[in-house]
Amino acid sequence: MGGVVVELRAFALADAGVIVSWISGPAELLTWAGPGFTWPLDDSQLATYVAEPGRRTWTGVGPDGRLVGHASLRLAADGLSARLGRVLVAPDARGQGYGAALLTQVLTFAFAQLGLEHVELGVFAHNGNAVRLYERLGFRVDQVLPDVERVDGQSWSALQMSLAKADWSAGVG
Ligand SMILES: CC(C)(COP(=O)(O)OP(=O)(O)OC[C@H]1O[C@@H](n2cnc3c(N)ncnc32)[C@H](O)[C@@H]1OP(=O)(O)O)[C@@H](O)C(=O)NCCC(=O)NCCS
Repeated sequence: MGGVVVELRAFALADAGVIVSWISGPAELLTWAGPGFTWPLDDSQLATYVAEPGRRTWTGVGPDGRLVGHASLRLAADGLSARLGRVLVAPDARGQGYGAALLTQVLTFAFAQLGLEHVELGVFAHNGNAVRLYERLGFRVDQVLPDVERVDGQSWSALQMSLAKADWSAGVG
């Protein structure tokens, strides 16, 4: 899936300013993160988020050392599942496979290192780039949640998607 290489490293608060610069308005913030952040995004909201119990956060670094992405997992208390979230690729790096490369590493970590059985996520139904990326990685829609947000007079629906370890392994190699 693409030839780009991304190094996954633990998110550092020093990365916060760059991440903030990738989000250009309130609708984009909601699309990326759901209602967990409020516009304008700032370093202190990111600091609170990275300190949430069970949250693992990563920065994706490109071959030239440039920051290209962000993603996180929130581990469930049962130790068997996690919610993938805050998936973001730098605007000028999109459409080149960085999202797939970043998530392939996060999912390998989740299934191979953490030993999880399931990873789930939520995505707005109209976010086609994200939905297609998740589907390519093997995620399937479990549930449609209609009308979860109203933005500029438009109703937004959300999809709950999940990927089981067996389906992930089947898709690798
Ligand atoms: C969703 C998002 C993370 C996708 O990241 P990305 O790096 O663009 O994803 P990819 O490059 O792996 O895939 C995107 C498209 O580029 C294509 N692509 C992949 N590698 C490519 C390459 N080398 N050359 C050209 N196109 C390529 C993919 O086929 C895909 O096209 P498709 O959607 O028509 O099938 C990114 O658009 C983003 O940050 N969006 C804003 C935040 C957001 O919505 N996050 C998700 C919240 S749930």
